[in-house]
Amino acid sequence: MRKSDIKAVMQIEKASYPVPWSIGVMRDCIKSGYHCVVLKQEKKVVGFGILMTALDESHLLNMCIDKSYQGNGLGRKLLSYLENMCIYNQARTFLLEVRVSSPVAQSLYKSFGFKQIGIRKNYYKCLIGREDAIVMKKIVG
Ligand SMILES: CC(C)(COP(=O)(O)OP(=O)(O)OC[C@H]1O[C@@H](n2cnc3c(N)ncnc32)[C@H](O)[C@@H]1OP(=O)(O)O)[C@@H](O)C(=O)NCCC(=O)NCCS
Repeated sequence: MRKSDIKAVMQIEKASYPVPWSIGVMRDCIKSGYHCVVLKQEKKVVGFGILMTALDESHLLNMCIDKSYQGNGLGRKLLSYLENMCIYNQARTFLLEVRVSSPVAQSLYKSFGFKQIGIRKNYYKCLIGREDAIVMKKIVG
């Protein structure tokens, strides 16, 4: 992900979540040196993922596929790439949070071998109130 991709990334982010990340958070992820990747089709940004690695642990902070490109295996491709990044960075543990209201994402992660290890209460901000996150983990190393 380059600075020039952020506009397209933010469009996908805003269409994906009722309370999206701000552009500042997105820029900070790049500045902080997180692994920020975009998935492109014919030069168009159709998805992105953000991975933070510290020592032997990688944490998936965000991952989205443009709504009009969903259901075609791109999410699976992107997650596979991010998992390879974990392995490349010698992380042993791949961690993520997923909304309790996101069965599609949960099904994707389960099919990759992620297992639920806990719940973070009121983790996500919603338009009204907050939503719990399921914490999932996979040993990759
Ligand atoms: C989660 C997300 C990234 C999946 O991307 P995608 O490109 O649609 O996913 P794929 O086409 O690669 O499908 C991967 C798996 O997701 C699940 N899935 C996809 N569409 C589904 C649907 N309509 N219903 C149920 N499960 C579905 C299936 O397990 C599927 O695997 P399969 O095709 O082998 O059955 C995408 O839906 C998205 O961006 N959602 C909004 C943002 C979000 O919730 N991100 C996750 C943050 S934790």
